[in-house]
Amino acid sequence: MSRLMLNTTFLEELEKMPSIHTALEQYPRVSLTRTPTPLQYLEHLSKNLDVNVYIKRDDLTDLTFGGDKPRKLEYEIAQAQKQGADTLVTCGSSQSNHARLTTAAARRVGMDCVVVLSQDQWQAFQGNLLTVYLMGASVKLVETEDHWDLEKQAMDVMADLEAKGRNPHYIPVSGTTPHSCLGYVRGALETIDQLHERDIQLDAVYTPFGTGGIFTAMLLTFREMGLNCPFAGISVNRNLEQCSENLETWWAALCDLLDIESQRERGAYNIYDEFIGREYGDPTVACLDAILMMGQSEGILLDPVYSGKMFSGFLAHHKQKHWQSGQNILLLHSGGTPALFAYHKVIEQHLIEKGILPAHFSKE
Ligand SMILES: Cc1ncc(COP(=O)(O)O)c(C=O)c1O
Repeated sequence: MSRLMLNTTFLEELEKMPSIHTALEQYPRVSLTRTPTPLQYLEHLSKNLDVNVYIKRDDLTDLTFGGDKPRKLEYEIAQAQKQGADTLVTCGSSQSNHARLTTAAARRVGMDCVVVLSQDQWQAFQGNLLTVYLMGASVKLVETEDHWDLEKQAMDVMADLEAKGRNPHYIPVSGTTPHSCLGYVRGALETIDQLHERDIQLDAVYTPFGTGGIFTAMLLTFREMGLNCPFAGISVNRNLEQCSENLETWWAALCDLLDIESQRERGAYNIYDEFIGREYGDPTVACLDAILMMGQSEGILLDPVYSGKMFSGFLAHHKQKHWQSGQNILLLHSGGTPALFAYHKVIEQHLIEKGILPAHFSKE
């Protein structure tokens, strides 16, 4: 079949599909970042691994050091504005990327921001936490076993603000809500446009999986657009069962918002929980090696919590021969790189063990 015929068939198929574009357009969005982000072919890595590796550079969304959150917040803040909110309240770990970007977004739209953060082992005046203070968020550091479960403390902050006559808007951990997931419907549509422009047929997509907002929104959008390549979600914190529950929640919520039959086929996808390490944020040796490999082959920095874990999952699968020569793999770089600076001691130790740095490198 000629290329022209293939394209015509594709366009005909596309016309028959329910338009996710039209459904998305009903929802208000506040512009917070410059898109499209680049879709890059990783030449050196592809050669070394003998598969074609592409990376979607959502670390380059241009709100305060970038990442996935600007796309999510564009839709969530539109909801906050609709409700007349004057303050955003959110929560996360002490090195929360989401706290950094919610603070930045609040400033951009002229709101205040309160962030409730866990007093965990990465609490240092470094990385994301430093940026949050610089942008003037009100920071409440609290003791908790689990930073994914700070909703109660955040609700207390909401009640306090309301008692003072303020109108706060709560954004849950990781910024994931039904509306914010629309940001990754838009992000996936943008990616699909870039793939079509360059005539790239993917064999797999890899994303990090935290709450699963990004993964679910991208999976649904690819399927709605007729792209059936396998999806791999690399969990950064939860076990498979919990991730699957999250996927069900966001899938149902998005189908509802976009008027899509929620029983529709999902195609091939897998969530992997074996790359987490001991706990969320554990900089595993495989993750640190993956960060080094990406840095040294492509000059792209990954982070120790999300994108490094995602890449370590892909590298493990590559080693297990999941992917063959000539196949096209897409990695989503969802950002998070400021956390590198809070992990500097662990990274230093890793480089000493690799012989890249001499022992006792730092003078402290
Ligand atoms: C850099 C980065 N990537 C990925 C994620 C996870 O996204 P999701 O919760 O939608 O799975 C987060 C969440 O905070 C993040 O900060």
